[in-house]
Amino acid sequence: MLKPLPLRVSRILTAGICLSVSFVLFSFTALSQQLRSPSGNFRMDFSLTKDGTPVYRLFYKGREVIRPSRLGLALKNDSFSLYDGFVVADSVRASHDESWKPVWGEVKTITNRYNELAMVLSQPRARRKMLIRFRAFDDGLGFRYEFPAQDNLVYFVIREEKTQFAMTGDHTAFWIPGDYDTQEYDYTTSRLSAIRRLHDRAVTPNVSQTVFSPTGVQTSLMMKTDDGLYLNIHEAALVNYPCMHLNLDDRNLVFESWLTPDARGDKGYIQAPSVTPWRTIIASDDARDIVASKMIYNLNEPSRITDTSWIRPMKYMGVWWEMITGRSTWAYTNDFSSVVLGQTDYRDAKPNGRHGANTANVKKYIDFAADNGFDGVLVEGWNVGWEDWFGNMKERVFDFVTPYPDFDVAGLSQYAKSRHIRLIMHHETSGSPRNYERCLDTAFKFMKRYGYDAVKTGYVGNIIPAGENHYNQWMVNHYQYVVEKAASYHIMVNGHEAVRPTGLARTWPNMIGNESARGTEYQAFGGSKPNHVTILPFTRLLGGPMDYTPGIFEMDLSKINPNNNSHVNSTIANQLALYVTMYSPLQMAADLPENYQRFPDAFQFIKDVAVDWDDSKYLEAEPGKYLTVARNAKGSGNWFVGSVNGDSVRTSEIGFSFLAPGRKYLATIYADAPGAHYRTNPQAYTIRKVVVTARSRMRQLCAPGGGYAISIFEADAASLKGLRAL
Ligand code: NOJ
Ligand code: CA
Repeated sequence: MLKPLPLRVSRILTAGICLSVSFVLFSFTALSQQLRSPSGNFRMDFSLTKDGTPVYRLFYKGREVIRPSRLGLALKNDSFSLYDGFVVADSVRASHDESWKPVWGEVKTITNRYNELAMVLSQPRARRKMLIRFRAFDDGLGFRYEFPAQDNLVYFVIREEKTQFAMTGDHTAFWIPGDYDTQEYDYTTSRLSAIRRLHDRAVTPNVSQTVFSPTGVQTSLMMKTDDGLYLNIHEAALVNYPCMHLNLDDRNLVFESWLTPDARGDKGYIQAPSVTPWRTIIASDDARDIVASKMIYNLNEPSRITDTSWIRPMKYMGVWWEMITGRSTWAYTNDFSSVVLGQTDYRDAKPNGRHGANTANVKKYIDFAADNGFDGVLVEGWNVGWEDWFGNMKERVFDFVTPYPDFDVAGLSQYAKSRHIRLIMHHETSGSPRNYERCLDTAFKFMKRYGYDAVKTGYVGNIIPAGENHYNQWMVNHYQYVVEKAASYHIMVNGHEAVRPTGLARTWPNMIGNESARGTEYQAFGGSKPNHVTILPFTRLLGGPMDYTPGIFEMDLSKINPNNNSHVNSTIANQLALYVTMYSPLQMAADLPENYQRFPDAFQFIKDVAVDWDDSKYLEAEPGKYLTVARNAKGSGNWFVGSVNGDSVRTSEIGFSFLAPGRKYLATIYADAPGAHYRTNPQAYTIRKVVVTARSRMRQLCAPGGGYAISIFEADAASLKGLRAL
């Protein structure tokens, strides 16, 4: 019997075989074009094979990042398709260097600098044209397909996009299973070659909806090579096109795009002239460059909203965690059948006594939020329909304008206004986009009448009509329609369960948040991996901010609801750090007011932390292990630092050279206490106040699932009196 090769040896052999296979497969025509990024870090080679298939290859600092990989699209009912038979008709080069100011963001100014190569390809036998436009930035490569107006390519249906990303080795990947409906997974960290073996285990039964392949994964996909290169594949500007997943050919380690189909199995309906979203490859030998990259935003169009004065970052609380943990309910009554069947008016229905969004409770949140300097309060479960929705696949459940009898919409909006609190509307669509679209104008007018200027949308459950899914072209267009319609009403949108963002907030900055990943709610549904928050900034957050809803102080959820046995896998210090590491212009303090009252000294950090920034410095980064960020609060000299740690104990070491030289600052350090641990001792924290300068350095022990947060305020000599230097 043959003895299996040791894993390491077989890996090397596999990589060797792959490389030789790729060179045998592609016999290139002589014509090849190169594109370099402005600094010369990246070089992309473009060529056509002998049969006219476009191929690209990518290098970073002379190292191959993407092996020769095919480009093109297969069309439905089309004998030629758009992946071979091409000749180069023209190639056009350009350079671009500008800076722009985001309406909200991690930094005040973003530099958008790239070299461009547009390959104009023609397909003589079909008399058609297609462009592939490449942009080489100093942080990576973006490219897209473009279909100019022409006689022989007007309306067409995409059967599959055939974009390849051929890997140079069996990299370590941070992946979640490919799924047409949800990204709410914990990440699996494994070799590419292990994806098939681990796929079933990664597919969480109560999360997964439509998993399409045993080697399918979602973007943004983060990877690390054995020689320390960090590599990310994602997309930018997903408009009028299906969301791209990746399917791995794990014999050859080649990813190929896998578009999300519609109910008929078609992937995209295109009308020329049009363009696809950008395919993005970000790479660096320093992990900090990946999280700091703005390439995906840069590949989106400038803002289409001219007056952005009504778009404001906000810190908010919500009548929310109490329902998520099961202490109270979204629904007003348990009287399902009679209310649902219309035999009982809601006003006559028997209240279940556990309805969260009742006027008195909402007032309590408004008061607590106002007393502690918050901007907003989200209220879920305020409108009729929740009884009808659960367990039902009905097209029309909610109308978004009918409050439950115990929710005084007019009175509460008056009260919130008097306390300088903005109420955040909630629209759970029950996965029924057509109903939502029909209601949208009425619902937005209703919001405006009662002074709401932000809405959290939701798409829980299967999409109606049956067979459609969350990430196909039709749904991508729906989310876009909602954001644009909201902009016309001066309404900000925070979409949950929507397709993951791809930098569109540059164009539509009223899209102030998205969930589109596994958020804090899962800590109440059985828990998430403690290192989850060290991966999200390398994946989901590259396309836009996440409404992660941090700030949980009570980790034992049976204390909130005796029937909830979940545990929040995080220390309090880790929860504080998330306000800095999970960049978002919309930050929630998600726990119950009573839990903040128990820990007022730790709560102080949440009260102090900013939500909009002039500058951000990534100090330490390693996906799956740790992330430390310092951010400068907008329009001030104050800074906030957050550091999140993965599964093992670690000492973080940082300097403060980001501070203005020669100045003294008051730093308050909120850290894990000795013996802290996300599971066994999550509430053990210490707080110390010290003086820091640009020359200070710090070593800080971080517990498993822990970390630290620091507020750094400009201070005069008097307020620093008696304090020690760090
Ligand atoms: C799932 C969302 O992520 C959560 O925040 C919301 O409370 C529920 N859906 C109900 O709409
Ligand atoms: Ca969700």
